[in-house]
Amino acid sequence: MAFTFALAGKGGTGKTTTAALVVRALYEQGAGTVLAVDADPNACLHESLGVTVERSVGEITEEMLNSTEATPGGMSKNAWLEYNVQRFVVEEREFDLLSMGRPEGAGCYCYANNLIRGCLNDLSRAYDYIVMDNEAGLEHLSRRTTRDVDALLIVSDPSVRGIRTAERLNALADELEIEIGERYLVIDRSSDDLDPALMNAIKEAGLKLLGTVPEDPGVISCDLTGQGLFDLDNDSPALEAVRTMVATVIQAAAAPASE
Ligand SMILES: Nc1ncnc2c1ncn2[C@@H]1O[C@H](COP(=O)(O)OP(=O)(O)O)[C@@H](O)[C@H]1O
Ligand SMILES: [Mg+2]
Repeated sequence: MAFTFALAGKGGTGKTTTAALVVRALYEQGAGTVLAVDADPNACLHESLGVTVERSVGEITEEMLNSTEATPGGMSKNAWLEYNVQRFVVEEREFDLLSMGRPEGAGCYCYANNLIRGCLNDLSRAYDYIVMDNEAGLEHLSRRTTRDVDALLIVSDPSVRGIRTAERLNALADELEIEIGERYLVIDRSSDDLDPALMNAIKEAGLKLLGTVPEDPGVISCDLTGQGLFDLDNDSPALEAVRTMVATVIQAAAAPASE
């Protein structure tokens, strides 16, 4: 069963950057196969990973639902979708990538989502790790998958307001229909040396701080040149920080009783 990381947080806090670095850190650990899932309709995880996506799952689904032709050979819609989605999975040496896109077939929103959910659940069985980058809200997470999330990383900037938003997201996570194993707070663009006021806000919010990701000139440069984060130097401070976080999450999951 794949171990699933999901990223959440306000827009612009660094979810996609962190997600891409988690994918790289998992690959480097050599602990198994990784499926990256871009579940943000304003998708850009592929850019952070330095690859292009030909078709999103949403587009494939919409095409199928809008088509008047029967599925070939009397295939069920589920099987047809899975076959086609599999064809458009971006396959890299280090990871595979699936872009969810926007399933907006009017009137068939639930149906489309159900199909997509089933498809994602089936496909994900073939991987050891899944890393889902999400849009700012959390609501759609359970619309997109019935898979449980093992580690939810809530990303925030180093501000008290940011921490409050993270706290609200954490509360929202309770209302989802899916199970979430551990929730962690990640503070992006920050040194390890957090202001006492911030530490206090984190404590009050009841959030478990996984770590901080420093502002990294290499990350800025990748953004400016359009390079993926797999091109970051091996000693990039942001990457180093995320490597440590990934190791911590995996260790904690392997030894839950020791908490
Ligand atoms: N640690 C970091 N150092 C430098 N730039 C960063 C860092 N984290 C994020 N960024 C930059 O900030 C912008 C927003 O980050 P992004 O990961 O896309 O946020 P989100 O997915 O939460 O909207 C991007 O241009 C990204 O390159
Ligand atoms: Mg993003």
